[in-house]
Amino acid sequence: MPAVLILNGPNLNMLGVREPSVYGGETLDAIKSRCEARAKSLGLTVDFRQTNIEGELVSWIQAARGQFAGIILNAGAYTHTSVAIHDALRLGDLPVIEVHLSNIYKRESFRHHSYVSPVAQGVICGFGGHGYELALDALANILSTSKKA
Ligand code: DQA
Repeated sequence: MPAVLILNGPNLNMLGVREPSVYGGETLDAIKSRCEARAKSLGLTVDFRQTNIEGELVSWIQAARGQFAGIILNAGAYTHTSVAIHDALRLGDLPVIEVHLSNIYKRESFRHHSYVSPVAQGVICGFGGHGYELALDALANILSTSKKA
């Protein structure tokens, strides 16, 4: 079964207590369970991780080569600041889906720019935890299409 790496950046471990009016009341653990269930129904496995450390995300992205079929990434605030994450994604050849719980384009202007988007296959934002399931659907479709090609 193809394995998908799901990476979560800073402060996402605080979901549930962090600004529920923006991010909803769902915890990261609950989102992880949703992802595991959806992945199972799609014939995928998931490795779901969170870190507050930028370099750890970079190392995980680098190590994904040859280990995973694709990456789903919510880089949190590093989305808007990290050239290092942009470069790490660039040097890999895996499909990347960028996810945000909130609709970043409806929020402060500093959230409108993403260093992840130019190296992502697509972006899903504004659908809360459901966005991760949508990203898994998209990735399953990409993987099955590339297998047929
Ligand atoms: C976020 C949006 C980012 O702007 C913010 O810094 C986050 C979470 C989201 O999932 O909506 O930490 O990535």
